[in-house]
Amino acid sequence: MDQDQKKRAAAAAALSYVQPDSIVGVGTGSTVNYFIEGLADIKNDIQAAVSSSEESTKRLKALGIEVMDLNSVGNFDIYVDGADEITEHKHMIKGGGAALTREKIVAAVADQFICIIDDTKQVPMLGKFPLPVEVIPMARSYVARELLKLGGDPVYREGVITDNGNVILDVHNLKILDPVELEKQINAIVGVVTNGLFAKRGANVVLVGTDSGVVTIK
Ligand code: A5P
Repeated sequence: MDQDQKKRAAAAAALSYVQPDSIVGVGTGSTVNYFIEGLADIKNDIQAAVSSSEESTKRLKALGIEVMDLNSVGNFDIYVDGADEITEHKHMIKGGGAALTREKIVAAVADQFICIIDDTKQVPMLGKFPLPVEVIPMARSYVARELLKLGGDPVYREGVITDNGNVILDVHNLKILDPVELEKQINAIVGVVTNGLFAKRGANVVLVGTDSGVVTIK
């Protein structure tokens, strides 16, 4: 199986977690795009989706899936999303597609985070993938200096404005030995909206597309 087939298989497996008549939290990215396609086939069985980005909203609506505002729904069962890296502790780096803040918000409201990945995303330690940090534009240089003090090398993702009107710093060369603590530390820097570590709220179930089929990690 190539990487795309593995993504597609993991996305298809996530459909079995969708309860009838439920609201489904939908992430962002190439793996989730396969999930959105599958969700369209069962759209009459669900109530609606809550989306984590303008991009996913566009795709959901184009396939006739209703998208609800997060403020108009209560808690819901599942949030389905990909990851850029994930450890055996189900801690993740996300935000390669710059949607990390809305992803973290929608994930926080869901009872379960179902992470769908191909097996290239599994790592022994987070940090090879540069950690995305969403920053208020006027704080960019200050936040970059603070990130340097934490041992990282922040790089401004030029030309990218998030759905929230902010910018992204990608932090290279971080040694992420304690993801929960680092997530908290970076979020405490004034001017940071959020960072792409999903450790305090990691995944509950990981569906991994592999050469021998989809492996479920609970
Ligand atoms: C979007 O901002 C990201 O968090 C994605 O969920 C993550 O980058 C995984 O994307 P792919 O499924 O495209 O690898």
